[in-house]
Amino acid sequence: MRKNILITGASAGLGEQMARDFAARGRSLALCARRLDRLTALRDELLAAHPGITVAVRQLDVTDHARVFEVFDAFRAELGGLDRVIVNAGGGKGRPVGTDGFATNLESARTNFVAALAQCEAAVRIFRDQRQGHLVVISSMSAMRGLPRGMTTYAATKAGVAALAEGIRADLLGTPIKVTTVYPGYIVSEANPAGRAKPLMVSTEQGVRAMVRAIERERPKAQVPAWPWVPVGFLMRHAPLRAVARFS
Ligand SMILES: NC(=O)c1ccc[n+]([C@@H]2O[C@H](COP(=O)([O-])OP(=O)(O)OC[C@H]3O[C@@H](n4cnc5c(N)ncnc54)[C@H](OP(=O)(O)O)[C@@H]3O)[C@@H](O)[C@H]2O)c1
Repeated sequence: MRKNILITGASAGLGEQMARDFAARGRSLALCARRLDRLTALRDELLAAHPGITVAVRQLDVTDHARVFEVFDAFRAELGGLDRVIVNAGGGKGRPVGTDGFATNLESARTNFVAALAQCEAAVRIFRDQRQGHLVVISSMSAMRGLPRGMTTYAATKAGVAALAEGIRADLLGTPIKVTTVYPGYIVSEANPAGRAKPLMVSTEQGVRAMVRAIERERPKAQVPAWPWVPVGFLMRHAPLRAVARFS
């Protein structure tokens, strides 16, 4: 059983709901994000509902790489070990390439890819030392293909983190350290509000329930919710680029 779980980007959306679901399963949590007030409120809520667990919170901007290592190490010391780390912090802002949106795209690339590398480095360093652990990287269904318009950089970062996770998995094959890549479809969150519904979008509760079940199985890869995203993923990978560009 993975008792102590660290989640980055736990102040909103999927990270916040994963914290709720794992707390309900009796797990202790290490939660970080930039908005400490929201983490503190979440900690109070979780401890009131599940008094037997431990919930540690710390402020962290994942693009501050040195702090990522410091905060992960501090959480490990506070909880007496980390059994699972979920690299979840991320954002979907983007502009079409070549339209003066470089600053926005660079911010997405730094948060979703470079900072994810820092988080993987910090987590796997701890797991190698403990000789056990489960690294979970939250990619996206948008990693299946190169995507147009404002999705181009985002999709590339999510393909990048999926490749990063697969490489780490290859490096650790045959060891007690496991690596899972999660590819969520559209799930309501702060970044994806219900008012701006996208096709096939599910509620935060429904989407995260599927994510948590997939994470607990510890398989190498999971597209969630499996229906309809496994067949949609197949279509995305095999459809002509013109069709992908039109329907994405
Ligand atoms: N929702 C979807 O449909 C969907 C689909 C596929 C993949 N995903 C992925 O799922 C993950 C969570 O997304 P979400 O939809 O839950 O988004 P969200 O509601 O906007 O939440 C994003 C979380 O990431 C944190 N975060 C963002 N930048 C950060 C930074 N520099 N340092 C630390 N924390 C940071 C935010 O916290 P602070 O602002 O407090 O720092 C927040 O807790 C992302 O990796 C996203 O790409 C989401």
